[in-house]
Amino acid sequence: MSATAELTERPETRPVPRDDFTIDQPLERYVDTDHAVWAHLYARQASLLEGRVCHAFLEGLGKLDLPKNRVPSFAALNRRLRAATGFEIVAVPGLVPDRVFFEHLANRRFPVTWWMRRPDQLDYLQEPDCFHDLFGHVPLLIDPVFADYMQAYGRAALAFAHDANALPLFARLYWYTVEFGLIRDAAAPNGMRVYGAGIVSSKSETLYSLDSDSPNRIGFALERVLRTRYRIDTFQKTYFVIDDFRQLFDIARADFAKLIPAFAGAPALGAGDVLPGDAVITRGSGQGWAREGDV
Ligand SMILES: [Fe+2]
Repeated sequence: MSATAELTERPETRPVPRDDFTIDQPLERYVDTDHAVWAHLYARQASLLEGRVCHAFLEGLGKLDLPKNRVPSFAALNRRLRAATGFEIVAVPGLVPDRVFFEHLANRRFPVTWWMRRPDQLDYLQEPDCFHDLFGHVPLLIDPVFADYMQAYGRAALAFAHDANALPLFARLYWYTVEFGLIRDAAAPNGMRVYGAGIVSSKSETLYSLDSDSPNRIGFALERVLRTRYRIDTFQKTYFVIDDFRQLFDIARADFAKLIPAFAGAPALGAGDVLPGDAVITRGSGQGWAREGDV
């Protein structure tokens, strides 16, 4: 944070969301502190991710040309994003209902929370803010294969949005890929890099997911992931590692009509479980794991 950043009064007019939960990005509501938080987080993550994040992310960051010192204008980003993959970002006040989220993805729209976290929330906040949604997610939306995966995921999930038993399975798939995925890279120091937005937007989880002895790192297998609970309050106990984005796209075209009935309602695996058939890359020590609280 810049020592000169001042918290000025935020205008109190609140935009009313449309039926699809979108709003026009209220640029007039950002104050100096929001821009200072963006600048601080951008500088910290951009330097940390060098050598740790997948190449497609860095390429996307470069192509998007995100401003380093202020919260980006969504309209300006959309001109570059649409030209690259036909995706666009839409501003929302926060988390949106599952069906609405899936509908946006299925139509190549990614909802981005408009507001920024406070200066005392630089290292952790429970719900996604603009930095997480934008810096974490949007650079990969400029990658054609990853963008296709996001749309295919949205379409697949939308087809089951009415099925309460199916939703946890789609949530696990999203969690262990889009939010907390690792990807193999033989040239990287330990053979993998990060790509999930929950990692990419977090200093501590970037380091933990790649370097810590505690978590498991297991080769991605769809049926395995659909059964596996996860953590929303601490670092993950297990990270699943994909070979490349093409693997993701193939995953999204799986026969979910067969998979969902097979796994919905069946007992789920713990977040840290390791099974005999797992493609274990590193087996976690389990140090620091909370016994309760897998969701
Ligand atoms: Fe996210």
